[in-house]
Amino acid sequence: MNESEYLSPVWRDGIFKGRVVFVTGGAGTICSVQTRALVRLGANACILGRNVEKTEKAAEDIATARPGAKVIGIGGCDVRKPEALQAAADRCVKELGGIDFVIAGAAGNFIVPMSGMSSNAFKSVMDIDVLGTFNTIKATMPHLLRSSSPRIIYVSATFHYTGAPLQAHVSAAKAAIDSLAASVALEYGPLGVQSNVIAPGGIEGTEGLARLSSDRPEDMEAYKKQIPSGRIGTVRDIADATIFLFSDAGTYINGQVIPVDGAAWRRQGGA
Ligand code: HXC
Repeated sequence: MNESEYLSPVWRDGIFKGRVVFVTGGAGTICSVQTRALVRLGANACILGRNVEKTEKAAEDIATARPGAKVIGIGGCDVRKPEALQAAADRCVKELGGIDFVIAGAAGNFIVPMSGMSSNAFKSVMDIDVLGTFNTIKATMPHLLRSSSPRIIYVSATFHYTGAPLQAHVSAAKAAIDSLAASVALEYGPLGVQSNVIAPGGIEGTEGLARLSSDRPEDMEAYKKQIPSGRIGTVRDIADATIFLFSDAGTYINGQVIPVDGAAWRRQGGA
């Protein structure tokens, strides 16, 4: 990946030297690029995913961002299983020396009207997104509390600000994640933990956007044209917001939801 595709030229080399980031859903399009940017700027990383091959390959690829970078890929890890996360966090600490940053990015999504959504379909997404995020916090918090700069970013969305057709399950889950992030900030803020949400709008090249636009591409074209900032989002936009929140420039931002969507949701009511 060309550096300008995932990193703005404003950041300084080495700002994350000695930091370790633990990322669920780390092989996905957005989270892998967030991780790559942090690694490029000095961090080491542990990424988790369900698919073993995809996760290991993503880890290898991310490690190329900086000579000497250590990136562990832990496949076969389902965030719905607390013991799997616990084992992954322990391995991360053993091999990389600790956990300073967490990106809770694992998510499930499919497009379906409520009329076609079974109770188990709804539950599956709630379990991956909400319970999975809770499990991630529980498994990493003891390690985060030993860091001099413990920070968490949750990858959410914007469409639950209004509710969204065909996304009732995801919309409910992302609302819960925003709330959970705020509770973490309130409970653990006094212990130095920062807990913030990044809410991407539609991001070019992601599975989510492809799925949402697959049935009605004309809707996606209309969406793109109406984005107040005049363009669709990129993975670099999300990586840059991540760097800012984890950097020393972001130390007083806590318990916030930060949409990175070119003001799209204000115009559209959700991505
Ligand atoms: C209706 C569906 C369905 C579909 C699954 N189900 N797909 N129902 N329409 N298209 C139902 C199944 O029938 C089943 O219910 C229940 O969901 C669980 O399905 P499983 O396949 O057993 O679940 P599981 O193997 O755990 O897979 C979870 C998953 C899957 C969410 C269904 O899609 C997944 O693993 N996704 C992870 C990757 C992913 O989605 N990434 C994209 C994230 S994008 P029954 O009743 O039959 O038992 C994202 C961004 C959103 O989140 C923002 C966009 C802008």
